[in-house]
Amino acid sequence: MSSYLITGASRNLGFQFVRHLAQDPENTVIGLVRNKAAADAKAKAEGLQNVHMVEAQYTDLASLKAAAEIVKDITGGSLDYLVNNAAIISSISEFKGLGDFDDDFEILEKDLLESLDINLMAVIKTIHAFMPLILKGKGKKVITISTGMADIDLINETEIEFAAPYAISKAAVNVAVAKYNALYKKEGVLFLAISPGYVATERNIGAPPGNEDKVAVLVQKFAEYAPHFQRPLTPEESITAVLSVMNKASIENGDGEVSPSNPDKFFYNDCSPTKGEGAVAALRPHSYQSFHSPCTYAAWKQVPSAYLYCLQDATITLEVQKMMVESTKNGYGMQTEMVGASQPNYQSAK
Ligand SMILES: NC(=O)c1ccc[n+]([C@@H]2O[C@H](COP(=O)([O-])OP(=O)(O)OC[C@H]3O[C@@H](n4cnc5c(N)ncnc54)[C@H](OP(=O)(O)O)[C@@H]3O)[C@@H](O)[C@H]2O)c1
Repeated sequence: MSSYLITGASRNLGFQFVRHLAQDPENTVIGLVRNKAAADAKAKAEGLQNVHMVEAQYTDLASLKAAAEIVKDITGGSLDYLVNNAAIISSISEFKGLGDFDDDFEILEKDLLESLDINLMAVIKTIHAFMPLILKGKGKKVITISTGMADIDLINETEIEFAAPYAISKAAVNVAVAKYNALYKKEGVLFLAISPGYVATERNIGAPPGNEDKVAVLVQKFAEYAPHFQRPLTPEESITAVLSVMNKASIENGDGEVSPSNPDKFFYNDCSPTKGEGAVAALRPHSYQSFHSPCTYAAWKQVPSAYLYCLQDATITLEVQKMMVESTKNGYGMQTEMVGASQPNYQSAK
């Protein structure tokens, strides 16, 4: 039995987390929301049983501490998993660049400070309020939902200038997550920032009037940057992938990050030690530019192809492999097989 607290749980991804986690009757699922009456009504309409909606204002520490007291009573004094999902993408700057505010600098300043208040400070306040419960929990994981829009390489490569306050505040929260990780790793608590991908939530279904061309540009740039991108994920696909990453990540396996010191744990995890050591010794650095070289020919569209789902892949979970393949093979047909192997299955498949 595990307890989960999801912030911003009244709609879109936040509500989807709640709905998904509540399917296991053993879970205690708590949604932190700004309007409890509305969230309770929605949960009731969906027939959700083991869900508690608790009200708080995310930017108000006293309100969050009061909510933590309520959560403490619900769970009996601990919390296993905290998911910081609540965030704002300001409609003022969503489709503008920083230069578009040259004549309205005060508007930009207010917008940026509001984004930082909700997307950074509120997350820090939430962690502060719930940390005593997390330290007593069994799960000991704090997830913050971030975004690819805060990825510096993506910004430089795609030249997406929109939504700077949102991207800046999410980049700042990524650093806060790393700082919490540095602080609490020794106490066994893992902090992770995870991007949910581009999701078909309310904000992405249909462009706000007057911004249709900008949304089209955005989608085209995503597709150029990541050629496997075909369509936005559904909320269920997105949160399934996020939860899968959260469940797999652990402090012991290096926070889910491959580093030069641990490829054996990620790539050759089902090989014999001798085979694994040999494979690691043969690894060579390769140019970072390979991540950004445009793909000039998508062979799978013409050549009959197969994908081996690797059940022991420690880098890409099965759910994420399936999502990648399903969105790629769409309309082209691709044979798939399951193998009980790690990622370089040519090394490990028996
Ligand atoms: N949708 C995407 O494609 C996408 C892509 C990348 C990253 N993300 C990230 O994924 C998370 C969820 O995205 P979403 O599309 O589901 O978000 P959303 O519905 O726009 O907002 C999520 C929650 O944030 C809270 N919130 C919104 N505006 C607020 C404000 N002005 N002040 C305080 N709280 C506010 C609300 O909480 P209440 O429920 O309490 O009202 C809301 O339910 C966010 O962190 C977002 O940045 C989303």
